[in-house]
Amino acid sequence: MDGATYQGIALDGDTALALLEWQIEMGADVPVMDEPVDRFELPARVAAPDLPPIAVQAPAAAPALPGLEDDRAERLAQAEALAASATSLVDLARIQEGFDGIELKKGARNFCFADGNPAGRILILGEAPGDEEDRQGRPFVGRAGRLLDQMFGAIGMARDATDAERAIYITNVLPWHPPGNRDPHADEILVSLPFVRRHIQLVDPDIIVLLGNVACQAALEKRGILRLRGQWTQAFGRPALPMTHPAYLLRNPAAKREAWSDLLSLAARLESLSV
Ligand code: URA
Repeated sequence: MDGATYQGIALDGDTALALLEWQIEMGADVPVMDEPVDRFELPARVAAPDLPPIAVQAPAAAPALPGLEDDRAERLAQAEALAASATSLVDLARIQEGFDGIELKKGARNFCFADGNPAGRILILGEAPGDEEDRQGRPFVGRAGRLLDQMFGAIGMARDATDAERAIYITNVLPWHPPGNRDPHADEILVSLPFVRRHIQLVDPDIIVLLGNVACQAALEKRGILRLRGQWTQAFGRPALPMTHPAYLLRNPAAKREAWSDLLSLAARLESLSV
């Protein structure tokens, strides 16, 4: 992206990429210009001059990435079989921790399975453990986790509640910390999905909350959380509500107002499912 500019400012490749990612996070999916262009009014293109043909060399085949390229179907099949064999949450945690078909496992400090009360009616699906979660081996224990607790506390729910009506259960799409907090790769989500599906079957929640883009991608095959949030849908065969991730709310406090309206919608749905 050498030579790119944004509003007259020269951008290096990393900054241009960060800006693009920010726009995607905000829900932008179609590039449009500030001003409409009347393409009927554009002058006809100048015909290309006749130039001698240039010999083009076929590119050399891309080098294979060791361990990642063609064993994906095999790793997926292995994950499916292992996940299906789990008969309890304890069993699933042990089996998933032992699964070696995901490279992230090698760099992570701890396996991060779940937290909260599995008897609770709401299952919250996050993205992947961050630094603090990697250190402690429990999901959502860093800054974003504290905000998550405050958010659910505001509607009377908590991960340490013993009363199932007030309890929440929390897990992530990925149980291993991605280095540098990078976004999970599609391949990593794919091989983790059989475990997530089995996890949800075993917990059997009434409602699933999909926190952020990675959870929406895994559950709905869709991204664009700012468009999806607050819209009830179905995921893993049950009612699901996409919500903005608390890490996003920490960076964008103005978005807390919409998150609050989503929490109220969640409380109302729980109430209506109880009657
Ligand atoms: N963000 C997540 O999505 N999950 C965690 O466990 C922590 C931060």
